[in-house]
Amino acid sequence: MLEKAQQLKQQFEEKVQATTVPAELEQLRIEFLGKKGPISSLMGELRNVPNEQKKEAGQIINEVKQFIEETIAQKKTELVKLEEERLINAAEDYDVTFPTEDETGSYHPITLIQREVEEIFEGMGFAIEDYDEIVDDYHCFEALNIPKHHPARDMQDTYYLSTNQLLKTHTSAAQNAILIKYTKELEADRPIRVIFPGRCFRNEKIDACHENTFFQMEGVMVDKDISISNLIYFMKTMLSEVFQQDITVRLRPGFFPFVEPGFELDIQCLICGGEGCPSCKDSGWLELCPCGMIHPNVLTAAGLDPEKYTGFAFGLGLTRLAMMRYGIKDIRVFNSCNLKALSQFENSTFVEPEKEVK
Ligand code: DAH
Repeated sequence: MLEKAQQLKQQFEEKVQATTVPAELEQLRIEFLGKKGPISSLMGELRNVPNEQKKEAGQIINEVKQFIEETIAQKKTELVKLEEERLINAAEDYDVTFPTEDETGSYHPITLIQREVEEIFEGMGFAIEDYDEIVDDYHCFEALNIPKHHPARDMQDTYYLSTNQLLKTHTSAAQNAILIKYTKELEADRPIRVIFPGRCFRNEKIDACHENTFFQMEGVMVDKDISISNLIYFMKTMLSEVFQQDITVRLRPGFFPFVEPGFELDIQCLICGGEGCPSCKDSGWLELCPCGMIHPNVLTAAGLDPEKYTGFAFGLGLTRLAMMRYGIKDIRVFNSCNLKALSQFENSTFVEPEKEVK
């Protein structure tokens, strides 16, 4: 038994040394450790070994098996690293600064609007953060006071991965991590002020107004004595800058489990000045930015004492804002790869949507 096991180990070592790509390792794993492989048959042979030698023989086989598993794992890491290095070296041979025959590219309208809004918030002392697109249920829902089976989840169906993770449905998914990361600001007697733009995903039926992939920009401010008037001030200032004119805003109650009270922030219609027109469906107002005072449970989940601190949060629809800002009527343009359509917005100022005659 010992001899057979050693032979097997030697055979395996020779073969493993000759592998050059990870796929070959998988082959080897099946060959040696598969149901019909030599390790299995050695295990089978244990039946014929006298009882007093069984334990030792079993141990020997197990050691070889473990050796094979560990060597494959180690070799796999090596081969993957080698492959990465090869790709990096190949990429370095490619000169990204080399001019192409076409003209240079242009920024995507979402990038343009994102940078603009970022600059405005930076001017108001906000830090800018990036966050994952793949998140877990806890961050996307539970930490935001949306327990399992909460009806608010119905509106946020998304794409689930086999790893139990999901594509984030809103930028609010970063709130917990951001509040934790920036707690040090509060400890130093400074407010937490952060915006975090990002790509979001939802299982939507696509039409001119709905996409399965879109962008939001979330913002939070937390300190002692933050109130709704701070929220209104920041939103009004930011929107007036974005639209390059003085904006009138109003708050309506809106329900989101992670804020209390929660609001829908509307801006007075820029086309009719509030009198009512087809663009605002005759209401005089356009819905733009849900927001509210951060729910005590959300603060607690981030380790902050809701008796001591309060804060506001908002979720600005960046894609929506870009549509309004540039007069884009169909959301599908953004992911269309239609360069002719997408390249025309750089340096453009606010485009008034066409006025429709009643
Ligand atoms: N995350 C919400 C959504 O995508 C939007 C939202 C509402 C964000 C209220 C907020 C907020 O920060 O306070 O539907």
